[in-house]
Formats: sequence, structure tokens, C-alpha cells
Amino acid sequence: MLGAAEPGAVERAAAIIRGGGLAAFPTETVYGVGADGFDAAAVARLYRAKGRAPDKPIILHLTGMEMLAEVARDVPPIAHALAGAFWPGPLTLVLPRGRHVPDIVAAGGDTVAARCPAHPVALALIGAVGRAVAATSANRSGGLSPTRAEEVLEELGGAIDVILDGGPTGVGVESTIVDLTVTPPEVLRLGGVPVEQLREHLPDLVVRPSPAAGVRGGRLVLVEGEPERVAAEIRRRARELAARGLRVGVLATAETLPLYDELGAGVVRQVLGSRRDPEGAGRALFGVLRALERLGLDVILAEGLPQVGLGAAVTDRLRRAAREVVVAG
Ligand code: TXA
Ligand code: MG
Repeated sequence: MLGAAEPGAVERAAAIIRGGGLAAFPTETVYGVGADGFDAAAVARLYRAKGRAPDKPIILHLTGMEMLAEVARDVPPIAHALAGAFWPGPLTLVLPRGRHVPDIVAAGGDTVAARCPAHPVALALIGAVGRAVAATSANRSGGLSPTRAEEVLEELGGAIDVILDGGPTGVGVESTIVDLTVTPPEVLRLGGVPVEQLREHLPDLVVRPSPAAGVRGGRLVLVEGEPERVAAEIRRRARELAARGLRVGVLATAETLPLYDELGAGVVRQVLGSRRDPEGAGRALFGVLRALERLGLDVILAEGLPQVGLGAAVTDRLRRAAREVVVAG
């Protein structure tokens, strides 16, 4: 682990990537682990280090729009408009794959995903490598994205060559992914750039809600809806589960926390943040989920956030982690 601000640290990490190795680094969203985007053998090491399924492509990280021509072809004007508006920043664009992009980066497909991260360490690193860096969230496949260097060490310690520690990340949820190769364009992952902002450029943008994916041991149940009803449903379920001897956790917001007072000390309560501050909830999300995971609970009953701004991305992460999504009514 190297402090990103130490003299020569970024250059050392860049030399490792240029030599075919793997380096983890902070972005504005979550920590990534990267390899030379044009070195198929290095990208294969990246898949092995994460235990990533070979059919899941990887995002190429760029220093800016000027690198798009290296990785994509037939770049439409809207891509330049979006990059102009949101780069550097948490927006990933899916475009027709450039001729020199190795198969493995695109998982054999005809498209490529590219983004320019808004983090000085990430930008300095990609700049020092001098070409696109293929990078993915620095967790073992299926795990939570790390927002701190220590979590990267826990997740991938022995499997990668260096970690640049740049402190905690700012956004906390991953980049928004927009597929520009389909008509109308479609959001493939909700993330750091809210859909409302993208719609100013792409009025016909399609967003489909993620289904409950049932990962993470199937412990999470997400309850969405009007806050009072959500709390009533969570209280009902918590009492029932606790009565069966199960260890129950409730993931609430600052505003709704008092609604769970009557559950007593046997039910663990955690606050994700304020309903009025979805950005704060985004920053806290993965850390809070990690903390809950460590408690070894049998069931986590989580509230959804209001579906505006970053609240939609935070709720979407919970949906994808949930084994069941309930609408309280
Ligand atoms: O914020 C982020 O995007 C972080 C930081 C490190 O940049 N990266 C990240 O990478 O979240 P990863 O590998 O954990 O998630 C990348 C997602 C995957 O769901 C993958 O399927 C999708 O991007 N993806 C990559 N290339 C794609 C492509 N050509 N078409 C569609 N989806 C693609
Ligand atoms: Mg990931």
C-alpha cells in the first residue's frame, strides 16, 4: 500500500501497469483495480484476481474525451456532448468498440465502455500510463465495492501488485452507465450522475428498474414506499423474525429511526443517512453494508430512499443486493 501523495507513488503504480501488473487506485466513485487496457494478458490477470466471470466486460478509464478515438469508433456527437457535460465524472458511456481494444476487455462483444474519473490520483495514474486503463471495482467478484484503501487490501491484498491510498472516495456508488449503441439510449446501471441530469441531454433515455438479484447470502429485504408504511411493514417483519429466534437488522434513515424504538435492543438498527441527503447516503452505503455484514445477521430489513437524484442509485444498489423487494401499501 502506497500513500498516493508520496513522491513517486503514482509513477511507481503506472510503471507496474505498463509492465503488465495490477494497481488499485481511488476514483471519485469507488476504488478500482486497473491493468493496461491494451494488454490482454494483464486484463486476464485482472479477471483472475477478482474471480470475475469472463462474460462481464470491463470499463476503460481515460484522461478525457481526447482518448475516446483510441478505444471507440463511430463516436456519435451525443457522446461528445455528454462527455463535455459530465467528464471528468461518474458517467460511463457504452460505444462501438474500437479496433485495437482486446477481446477480453469487451468480453468478446462489439461495444466498449469508457469513462473519465474525476479524481486527481486516477487522472494522474492514467496520464502516467499513457493509455486507457481497464479497471473494475477493487472487490472480489460478488462483493461490495470498496470506498477505502483498507477495504481493497482486505478484498484483493495478495492478488494485486500495489494499492494507491487516496483516502475515502467521495461519491460512494459506482458510475452511471449509458448505452449509446441502442436506440433509444438506455441506462444500464444507475449511479453517480442522476438520470434527471442525463435527460436534459437525452430526453428519450430508457431506465428499467433492477430486479432483486438475491446476492450477498440472500439476507437483505428491501421495503419501498411511503416512509410510515415502510416502517410499519419493517416493524411487523422484524417482530415476526425475532420471535422465530433470528438475528434481525434494520437499515433506516435518520428521519425514520425513531419509528423503530419499540423493537427494543434485540434488533440492530443502523442509519444509512438522511432522506434529505441522498449524496451522504451514497457515500455511506457500502461502508454501512460492510458493517452489517460483519455482524452476521440472519435478515436485514432495509428502507428504500426517495427516488430522486442519487436516491435512485442508492435504492437500486439495495435492490440488486436484495433477495426480495417489497412495496409497502
Ligand atoms: O464507478 C465505476 O464505474 C467503478 C470505478 C472503479 O470506475 N467501476 C466499476 O467497474 O464499477 P465494475 O467492473 O465493477 O462494473 C462495470 C460494469 C459491469 O456491470 C459491466 O458489465 C459493465 O460495467 N460494462 C462494462 N463494459 C460494458 C459494455 N461494453 N457494455 C455494457 N456494460 C458494460
Ligand atoms: Mg463492481
